[in-house]
Amino acid sequence: MIVLGIETSCDETSAAIVADGRRVFSSVVSSQFDLHRSHGGVVPELAARRHVTSIVPVVQGAIAEAGIERDDIDAIAVTQGPGLAGSLVVGVNAAKAMAFAMRRPLVAVNHLEAHIYANWLSMPGEEAPEPQFPVLCLLVSGGHTELILMQQHGVFQHLGRTLDDAAGEAFDKGARLLGLGFPGGPAVQRAAATGHPDAFDLPRAWLPGTHDFSFSGLKTALLRLSEPLRLPDDAATPRFSPGTAFREHRPPRFPEDAPIADLAAAFQDAIVEPLAVKTAQAAVETGAQTVVLAGGVAANSALRERLQREIAQRAGPEVAVSFPAFTYCTDNAAMVAGAAAWVIRRGNQSGWEMDVHPRLALT
Ligand code: KG4
Ligand code: ZN
Repeated sequence: MIVLGIETSCDETSAAIVADGRRVFSSVVSSQFDLHRSHGGVVPELAARRHVTSIVPVVQGAIAEAGIERDDIDAIAVTQGPGLAGSLVVGVNAAKAMAFAMRRPLVAVNHLEAHIYANWLSMPGEEAPEPQFPVLCLLVSGGHTELILMQQHGVFQHLGRTLDDAAGEAFDKGARLLGLGFPGGPAVQRAAATGHPDAFDLPRAWLPGTHDFSFSGLKTALLRLSEPLRLPDDAATPRFSPGTAFREHRPPRFPEDAPIADLAAAFQDAIVEPLAVKTAQAAVETGAQTVVLAGGVAANSALRERLQREIAQRAGPEVAVSFPAFTYCTDNAAMVAGAAAWVIRRGNQSGWEMDVHPRLALT
């Protein structure tokens, strides 16, 4: 089963060809970072319009790179949601047009499910083992932070979630407060590489007795620590202001000797520690065989290392830990084409009335 996947839920236009939910023949991702950088975050209207101009060359590129003919494609899969409505519309309509013209089934894919199924993808030339059930998944992206238990394919039991900011959102806001740029996660990770996590004491919301998370107090604590360190002429700089579409973002400025690396390291540690510890505790409680990490924040090396350590210490070496390849952590269409194979096996094909679903949940 060869699936063409299309992903346009946020700020990457992507298309990929994947066989049988596992083998990636090609994956093309066109990122829009250049377009949004000066705004300090994704501007939905600009994102949608860039998808319009990128989608056809990206799909053509994925088919060419896979070395297949268009007729070899068995199904067209597309992200239905969650995501930005205007961005999703571009991908869904491109997928419908292709499915209609090629007389192939159309498959709607949940973006969150796609992130999870990135753990089933193999890089070209390698054959990674499949995650064994029960699978415990820590899904950490720009919009979501959820702990999910899967006893079998396609069944998602929600154990916990963030009560406020998502982990990726926390990284992005922290990066803005420290003047580190966009996208925030990779910028914080880079800055943290030369810093000491113990140099500053930042709070962790443990929320005992639950599998939930919270990061908004941490963000406020970072603001309190970092604001007095700014250059004196920096007073007019707006504080982080989410959703300021089209407003030019002016990052805060710090003196050269400001301890930005230490702040970044302490901030990263305060996000990573509760994620890793609480996931390991849940793995023990649920008897999970495999723990998988999913979503853009799964690219974070500190989180990968800490999770592996906590699982080994608390759950033991018999519990496997799996990460998607770095390229399949942040948004991409290979994970969409991969997840589609499992959706098709459940017998879920979409009709032409299929619409985007910006707030689609994982049920
Ligand atoms: O999954 P994703 O590409 O988009 C959503 O579905 O939201 O995740 C994007 C998020 C952003 O918040 C970004 O800052 C974060 O993932 N991210 C990282 C890293 N790479 C991307 N966070 C921490 N460390 C990274 N290396
Ligand atoms: Zn995503």
